[in-house]
Amino acid sequence: MTSNAELLEIAATIARRAAAFALQRRRDGVEIAASKSSLSDIVTRADRETEQLIRDALAASRPRDGFLGEESGGGSSDSGLTWVVDPIDGTVNYFYDIPAWAVSIAVVEGDPDPATWRTLAGAVVNPVLGEVFTAYAGGGARLNGEPIHVNEGVLLPLALVGTGFGYDAGVRRRQAALVGELIGEVRDIRRIGAASLDLCGVAAGRLDAYFERGLNPWDHAAGALIAQEAGARVSGLGGGPADNRLIVAAAPDLSDQLHPRVEPYFAAWE
Ligand code: IPD
Repeated sequence: MTSNAELLEIAATIARRAAAFALQRRRDGVEIAASKSSLSDIVTRADRETEQLIRDALAASRPRDGFLGEESGGGSSDSGLTWVVDPIDGTVNYFYDIPAWAVSIAVVEGDPDPATWRTLAGAVVNPVLGEVFTAYAGGGARLNGEPIHVNEGVLLPLALVGTGFGYDAGVRRRQAALVGELIGEVRDIRRIGAASLDLCGVAAGRLDAYFERGLNPWDHAAGALIAQEAGARVSGLGGGPADNRLIVAAAPDLSDQLHPRVEPYFAAWE
């Protein structure tokens, strides 16, 4: 059986290679291949090519494992393990050459459903900044090999809180309404534009907390493990697993303050 540390090595090696490829594609010039759910929800040729590179590399080294990717969907698993991949998280930043996008690769055990899966290892690579965030279950979280930890003992009024917006215009307006209330109750709010980096930001103490509604599994699989291994509580509605209805990530003492503040807003939103 492959250990979690060995799975992480595979994830990080492929994520680094994919990140170098996507960065080169960025330098060559970006091309929008399609708009998905709305005009803000774009996919570039590089998203598709990078996902194909990752998919091919995993098929070669882990042929029995499943695959769940943002651009090419799923493939079944004979081993009980599935690789959950966002080839370019933060595609709009990528398009505008804002250096906050990342390749995100996680490997999960069980059904590829965030409500039940167990994430074994995850790597998030920001190629522009040369940053590699990694974690495996039980092994702690690292940035470029150095241990990282969440900020603890932060009161909500002093918290720097990250969030994000979905692509549907109606959803965005509702999310902005909550931000409009919260902005007067916290130190400040950041919309970085890549959920995986928001979660790694919490892990590294660059954000005190992060919340969002509407994430897909590939947006948060690797980052959520990295945040957890750095000491964050990552939770969803009712304190259960994070899913597309809600994710909140922060040290437990800050999560105790933020979660009850945002949860009723999202719980009522069905
Ligand atoms: C998006 C980013 C963004 C978040 C959106 C995601 P994509 O992923 O992570 O920060 O707010 O909810 O869909 O489309 O750039 O891979």
